[in-house]
Amino acid sequence: MNLPRHIAIIMDGNGRWACNQGLPRVEGHRAGAKAVHRTVRACREIGIEALTLYAFSEQNWARPEPEVEALMHLLLEYVRTERQEILGNDIRLTAIGDLERLPPFVREPLFALMEESASNQGMVLTLALSYGGREEILRAARALAREAAAGRLDPADIDEAAFAAGLDTAGLPDPDLLIRTSGELRVSNFLLWQIAYAELWFTEDTWPEFDRAHLDLAIECYRQRQRRFGRTGEQVLAAVGATGC
Ligand code: FPP
Repeated sequence: MNLPRHIAIIMDGNGRWACNQGLPRVEGHRAGAKAVHRTVRACREIGIEALTLYAFSEQNWARPEPEVEALMHLLLEYVRTERQEILGNDIRLTAIGDLERLPPFVREPLFALMEESASNQGMVLTLALSYGGREEILRAARALAREAAAGRLDPADIDEAAFAAGLDTAGLPDPDLLIRTSGELRVSNFLLWQIAYAELWFTEDTWPEFDRAHLDLAIECYRQRQRRFGRTGEQVLAAVGATGC
């Protein structure tokens, strides 16, 4: 049915949603957590293999302290309240980013649920936390450089597969579809290496408004795109035994 195997989402617009409702920003994040619940459930129902959510960027640490604290408490609440949802639906929870920066009161229950769900096969749910694409690439490059300097790796052997294996997302397929809400048309340091050939889909609606209809529309748009990976349209059609221009 040509579904995207991996969907990645930049969940943007929580603050604006709250402001439009006359609510404090943290209420936007709270409503955003409900949209996370809906979206995880919908992706699992649809049969998506991997879903990656940009929940907290490396740069988000620079937000006002009370907002950072509120987001950390929401993450803790998510891990606690969604435990049954994750385990009961055969979802494997993982996380990418500089996880050591997370406060222990978030990191410990998060790691415990990651471990508890590690053998689940239904869908991989990855939370990007304290995550930055450039930072991830630098970490991978440093690790490879250390191996080369120690004489354990020939630089000539560093190909795409070797590099990808050093990223936090090692083992996950690259995202096929990247969704961003709230009308911003940028990728904001998210999965920079991995989205090289992702199809992009944007909506003006904010993340707390995102629902099954948005997801279905994004997937439908994805299904109508022709992914060429640098080839011509004719080559792509010929590979599936069709003709056209
Ligand atoms: C961007 O909106 C959103 C974030 C920085 C945080 C995303 C967090 C959640 C969706 C809730 C918690 C996550 C989980 C997994 C439970 P913004 O605040 O930058 O919005 P704005 O651009 O309108 O200010």
